[in-house]
Amino acid sequence: MFAARQALRSVPRQARLFSSSAPARTKVAVLGAGGGIGQPLSLLLKVEPLVSQLSLYDIRGAPGVAADVSHVDTNSTVRGFTADALDQALEGAEVVVIPAGVPRKPGMTRDDLFNTNASIVRDLATAVGRVAPTAKILIISNPVNSTVPIVAETLAKAGVFDPRRLFGVTTLDVVRAARFLSEVTGQDPASTPVTVVGGHSGVTIVPLLSQSSFGKGVQGETLSKLVHRIQYGGDEVVAAKDGAGSATLSMAYAATVFTNALLRAINGEENVVCPTFVRSPLFESQGVDFFSSNVELGPEGVKTIFPIGDLSAEEQALIDACLPELKKNIEKGKSFVNAA
Ligand code: NAD
Ligand code: LMR
Repeated sequence: MFAARQALRSVPRQARLFSSSAPARTKVAVLGAGGGIGQPLSLLLKVEPLVSQLSLYDIRGAPGVAADVSHVDTNSTVRGFTADALDQALEGAEVVVIPAGVPRKPGMTRDDLFNTNASIVRDLATAVGRVAPTAKILIISNPVNSTVPIVAETLAKAGVFDPRRLFGVTTLDVVRAARFLSEVTGQDPASTPVTVVGGHSGVTIVPLLSQSSFGKGVQGETLSKLVHRIQYGGDEVVAAKDGAGSATLSMAYAATVFTNALLRAINGEENVVCPTFVRSPLFESQGVDFFSSNVELGPEGVKTIFPIGDLSAEEQALIDACLPELKKNIEKGKSFVNAA
């Protein structure tokens, strides 16, 4: 099931644990566990051996999801929490995954979700900062390019922001890139990993196909179509669901892949590398202080942020188009918190 875990390692690396002792298992909270992503994500995290306790919170439906998922015969324990029990849900959480918020309908951009989701994410971040200030926070709620800066500013206001512990989950772009490239080349997606950098919406999604052993052979119109499909893959699902939401199942899978990578790194596995949207120095001089690139994860969260490497002329043009849009999205998120 987890072939994409390998795909997330942009360069094949030898995984190795520091110690031979049993891994420390981690308490994980899901905020928005009753939703389209939250439900399958909760199930997948129930079968993740590195999770010890699963804390499921939503403003509606989480106790039911928890009761259901808790019957799965794995070692972890599961508790569901009602709308008024957010603080209890967060107590002792070491990893908090947030898919709370509304999804798109056809014709909407992710930025159109800002007015609803910004305050949802800010309020949840405030609670995490108060109750579980050292938790690693994984943001799924859109628009990711703005919600991640919202969380950063909210935690900074509370005096508990540590950039090593905040991640925008862009793994679905990586998963899509591998899958869509495999449809062009005929290879197994597990052997066609693609690093995707930038942000998580339209032109800010920049797949670096020239750095992929199979991707570099794709040229011309086939390349443009492939890049466009990776950048706008979310629209395919929104259109097919026809008003009933956006990607949920592939997103739950992608979030589980990223959570697993982080849990392995927390447990001391070395060379766990994947793209994620973090506070980043790479384009700070151009006013873009959050950016997704390959990041090595470690016990404290972000360990090393890797530069984006050599680009083709086409990719440089994509980066040039990405940066102004990303800057605008980031500033919008920061202003939302700081204007309040
Ligand atoms: P959904 O409507 O099915 O579920 C959202 C859930 O959030 C609901 O159960 C709702 O009750 C809950 N919720 C709302 N306010 C809350 C609050 N204050 N506290 C806790 N829970 C709250 O939506 P979905 O399809 O699961 O999508 C969720 C979000 O994820 C959307 O913003 C969507 O755009 C985003 N998304 C991101 C990616 C990505 O790649 N990062 C991919 C797919 C979807
Ligand atoms: C996706 O990429 O599928 C998500 O960001 C959801 C969306 O709105 O497209």
